[in-house]
Amino acid sequence: MNSEDIHTSVPDPNKAIDRSIPDFPVAKEVDDNDYFTKNTPPTYIHEVVSKVKDFLQYHKANTFKKIALITSGGTTVPLENNTVRFIDNFSAGTRGSTSAEILLKNGYAVIFLYREFSLLPYSRHFSHNLHFLDYMKINSIDNKIEINDDHNDKMYKILLDYQKIKDSNSLLIIPFTTVNQYLFTLKSISTTLNTYGSKSLIYLAAAVSDFFIPVSKLPQHKIQSSVNNLSSNGQLIINLDPVPKFLKRIVDDWSNNSLIISFKLETDQNILINKAKLALKRYNHNLVIGNLLQTRKKEVVFVSKSSNESNQIDKNAQEKWFRLTDDQIKNNFEIEEIFLPEVIKLHDLWINKTN
Ligand code: PMT
Repeated sequence: MNSEDIHTSVPDPNKAIDRSIPDFPVAKEVDDNDYFTKNTPPTYIHEVVSKVKDFLQYHKANTFKKIALITSGGTTVPLENNTVRFIDNFSAGTRGSTSAEILLKNGYAVIFLYREFSLLPYSRHFSHNLHFLDYMKINSIDNKIEINDDHNDKMYKILLDYQKIKDSNSLLIIPFTTVNQYLFTLKSISTTLNTYGSKSLIYLAAAVSDFFIPVSKLPQHKIQSSVNNLSSNGQLIINLDPVPKFLKRIVDDWSNNSLIISFKLETDQNILINKAKLALKRYNHNLVIGNLLQTRKKEVVFVSKSSNESNQIDKNAQEKWFRLTDDQIKNNFEIEEIFLPEVIKLHDLWINKTN
């Protein structure tokens, strides 16, 4: 049985939330100290740091490839410590995993910080389309399992690419699920990556929760629908704190040697460019890539600083659209193939400028 035509994870854009509320202030050093002392690091964080150090060491000694940290997928906000319920952020991981493949193909090594069980580079071509057993058949002569003829050619090509990347130790995969795990891991990786100098690129495609429940306020057990937890109207009221906007900390402190690119997701095209310009102004990083939920697989817009920088929202910030043509759509091109060469050029300029 197969229900390939039904996709429950695709939201209805007409019912998307309005994000025109003002943004929170950017995170300062004090927020940094506050967040990272008041919340608990994941138990495995030392293991992550050690893996990243080994990865950087390997590439410093053997390849001196450019290295990209790509974040991908959505973070969750648990409502209970022993989590039964949580709030989730939309992202399948397509942007991040596709971008990873293209950067790897162009000679980068990639640290892929992704929401566990969202799309992964290479396996993304198979993992979410069919039931995985449908890719296989049993050879009736020797009872061995084989790949179905229909899928063999595609799988062969992708497996070759994947094995090349694995053999050259070019892909390090690190998972997160909660926003707390994401933030601790992002800080650890980006500060470690800073030692690699300007050959590092930080590419923030993850969709990060704007609100969370600090560990001090998190109920230990599943919230009961008993009178104690409910308002007089029978409503469950949950208080969420804002998540500090740590992008500014990455730019100013955690990884100031890296070229830093963030994404901006909106649902209303009338505010996309302004929000992207505002993000560029607030965080002072290198590039914002804007996209709309409805068209994100077909077009994106680069918003970068104009040479003439001003103190207000930079009205001159440059805009450049990248769009798939009808022919490219027909031939299954992906938008990342169109815009990533431009990202690579920008990074090369950054490296040359700092050397
Ligand atoms: O995975 P897909 O289904 O292909 O979808 C891809 C995408 C639409 C999710 C992706 O292209 C995208 O737009 N990601 C950014 C979503 C967004 O607008 O996030 P934001 O406004 O919460 O954050 C803006 C940027 O700051 C992001 O790059 C985010 O990774 C980063 N951020 C945000 C908050 C925070 N505390 N730390 C961060 O690093």
